[in-house]
Amino acid sequence: MAETREELASRYISNTEQFEALFNYATIGIVVTNHEGKIINFNKFAEHQFGYSKEELIGETVDTLLPQAVQARHVKYREQYYQSPEVREMGHGRDLFALNKSGNTFPVEVSLSHYSINGETFVIAFVIDITVRKKQEGVVLEQKQELEMVTTEIKKMNSELEQTVGDRTKMLREALVELERSKEELNEAFETEKELSELKSRFVTMASHEFRTPLSTILTSAYLLDKYNELSPDPKIDKHIQRIKGAVSGMKGILEDFLSLGKLEEGHVQTNIKMVTRAIIDSLFKNLMQEMDALLKNGQHIVYTNSVVTIVCLDTNLVTNILINLISNAIKFSPENGIIRVTSFVDDNHFIITVQDNGIGISEEDQQHLFERFFRAKNAVNIQGTGLGLHIVTKYLELMNGRIEMTSKLDEGSTFTIYIPQPIAAAQKDL
Ligand SMILES: Nc1ncnc2c1ncn2[C@@H]1O[C@H](COP(=O)(O)OP(=O)(O)OP(=O)(O)O)[C@@H](O)[C@H]1O
Ligand SMILES: [Mg+2]
Repeated sequence: MAETREELASRYISNTEQFEALFNYATIGIVVTNHEGKIINFNKFAEHQFGYSKEELIGETVDTLLPQAVQARHVKYREQYYQSPEVREMGHGRDLFALNKSGNTFPVEVSLSHYSINGETFVIAFVIDITVRKKQEGVVLEQKQELEMVTTEIKKMNSELEQTVGDRTKMLREALVELERSKEELNEAFETEKELSELKSRFVTMASHEFRTPLSTILTSAYLLDKYNELSPDPKIDKHIQRIKGAVSGMKGILEDFLSLGKLEEGHVQTNIKMVTRAIIDSLFKNLMQEMDALLKNGQHIVYTNSVVTIVCLDTNLVTNILINLISNAIKFSPENGIIRVTSFVDDNHFIITVQDNGIGISEEDQQHLFERFFRAKNAVNIQGTGLGLHIVTKYLELMNGRIEMTSKLDEGSTFTIYIPQPIAAAQKDL
């Protein structure tokens, strides 16, 4: 039969063994001291915490369990506590440390209580080892500090970034304004340059035109003087007449170039593309060769091969002018006894003419600028010319949608090739 509540109470509550067990198996350190602060009891858990056996500590003051630095202060505290004992936490917000037998300190949490027997007061200290908790707190604190550092760093970087972005934006804006201003300046300069260039070319065209008549007069007079000189020849007079004639025809050539360019730039040159037969091309070349004959140096000769068999489309005037420029260059820039080869043929889409010489050639550097106005290669400065011929050639070719290519090697020779597109050939191909 089950025991009654009273029976249980009388069997266990007043049983000292029960209290002994409670004291010894508590999972908290318990240290009991008397009014002198001497340890009178010490449970098993406290033995484990401090490394002392109960026997070793009984009769020792509780200060033994505290770090040296706080022992003196603690004597005062405990005496005060005995004056007015109460149940409370120890330390009040301070970190408390205890000292074990091996001389190592460890963090603790202590709460105090007291009781009296026969008029004598005893103090109980409940001790919890908080090493693990403190360690965790330390880790958390470290992590918090790290986090704070990272946050501060990020904030700093952020504000630096904002500053940089601000600065860059400002710079960019300024650059844009500057760019806009330069653009306007450039436009103005370009307009001025354009007007000036138009003015110049109009002036050159006009001047060239106006020079033609007096030059013709000079030339006619030179021919007349030549005739009169024939009656009683004087070599000195003859020499000067020949000089006048040479200089005048050189100047006429330059004026022709200026006039052609002027007309081209003003859009006054009209194209007249016609279908021509091989025979027409042959006669065009024959006339050209005769004209060029007068320019040939000693021993120079032109070899012409025409492989055209079909009808081709071209502007005969423009092609004649182009060839005059190319062949006169070949003559001018190659030595006596040189052969100048001219060929004409048709491929699928083009009428092609090549002019090849074995003259002074053109350096790679100079080749880049060859078709620019007034450009003359370094090795040509002592040879007469204005540097307009090839530029005019490109303009003529543009009118026929054609193009020019050139290969050259210094001191070996040059080959100029022109391509004139053939609508008929293309159309035939399409059929
Ligand atoms: N067949 C060539 N061999 C070597 N150099 C050439 C040849 N053709 C042209 N050049 C170079 O190209 C430059 C430009 O040729 P371009 O015909 O435009 O001018 P130019 O003959 O000097 O003068 P212009 O033709 O106006 O009388 C020449 O000054 C010369 O340096
Ligand atoms: Mg030339």
